[in-house]
Formats: sequence, C-alpha cells, structure tokens
Amino acid sequence: MKKIAIFASGSGSNAENIIQYFAQKPQFCVKSVFCNVPDAYVLERAKKYRIPTFVFNREEFRNPDKVFRQLQIDFIVLAGFLWLMPSFITAAWPNKIVNIHPALLPAYGGKGMYGHHVHEAVIAAGEKESGITIHYVNDHYDQGAIIFQAKCPVLPTDTPDDLAARVHELEYRHFPRVIEDTLKKL
Ligand code: GAR
Repeated sequence: MKKIAIFASGSGSNAENIIQYFAQKPQFCVKSVFCNVPDAYVLERAKKYRIPTFVFNREEFRNPDKVFRQLQIDFIVLAGFLWLMPSFITAAWPNKIVNIHPALLPAYGGKGMYGHHVHEAVIAAGEKESGITIHYVNDHYDQGAIIFQAKCPVLPTDTPDDLAARVHELEYRHFPRVIEDTLKKL
C-alpha cells in the first residue's frame, strides 16, 4: 500500500477531497496531515476522517529530527501549503512531492503568490485565462517540473473570489487523479 502525507496551511478543501478520493482505493492510504497553522480548518477536516494530524512550527519544520520522524510515507502532497519545503525533505523524496498552484505556471508563481494573491494578480493583469498547475516540488517556490495543467476562463466581471471558485472546481476534478497517476508510476 502506498502511504500519502498531505501538507496544508488553511481551509483544506483540497485535502478533504483527496482524503475522500483515496478512501475508495485500497492500494493507497492518506496516513497523515501536516500543518503549520495551529487553528487551520484542515485539522478539523482530517479529524473527521480520523487521520492523524501533526502541527509544527518553523523550527520544528527545519529540524530533520523533529516532525519528520513521523514521515513513514511514500509520497507527499502539498495542498495549499505555504512554506518552502526544506532541502532535506526534497532530497529524501525525489519526484515524490507534488504541489498544486492556482494559476498557469510559470506565470503568477513564486514567493508570496498563493491563494487570493494569485487571483487578484491574474485579474489585475487582464488575463483571459487562468487555471491550475500540478508540479513536482524542488527547492524553489513553484519551479519543479510540471505534471499537469488545466485552464478556465477569466470573465470580465470576475472578483478574486469568483475566479478562486472556478479554479477550485478544476482542482477538485483533477488533483486526486493526477496524484494517483503519479503514484502509480513510482
Ligand atoms: C488552493 O487553491 C491551492 O491551489 C492554493 O491554495 C488553495 C488552498 O485551498 N495553493 C497555493 O496558492 C500555493 N501557492 P484549500 O485549503 O481549500 O485546499
């Protein structure tokens, strides 16, 4: 059985969608949810499915002997996780960490580009299209090799929340399946 850890920092709607998807697949298991924000809603969502949660601070995150002793896992999914992964983790899980970004990388990526900041920038630039990018994670924000992209329109009347909702739909539709396909290739 392939064991998956999810890292998230916020609401965790993608994390919950992934948990539900793999609950139907006996060859995969979401083993744990890691979170850097003690009151993030993703922790409530994980508890609902009885998935162990681990909350860590920056010092623990950077210390190989702390949080990551728990990481007896095959694959790491970043689903709205906002910190850069330390290089001891990217080195230990080469091509086994994926992230989802709510825009069409390489545009609108990099440090500080997350969540509503991305959608505000896309709308401010007058883009006609946005979408999602699922990519491998390396030591730089949003720069790992791209695995999958999907597009959606940006409408002239869109607020950042409207666009976020359309992008979230794409994320729910594609992210679990792309994770599964990527895992099957390991
Ligand atoms: C998602 O839209 C994800 O693409 C984005 O955060 C949101 C988390 O939503 N990630 C980034 O911006 C990473 N740079 P969720 O907590 O409801 O899954």
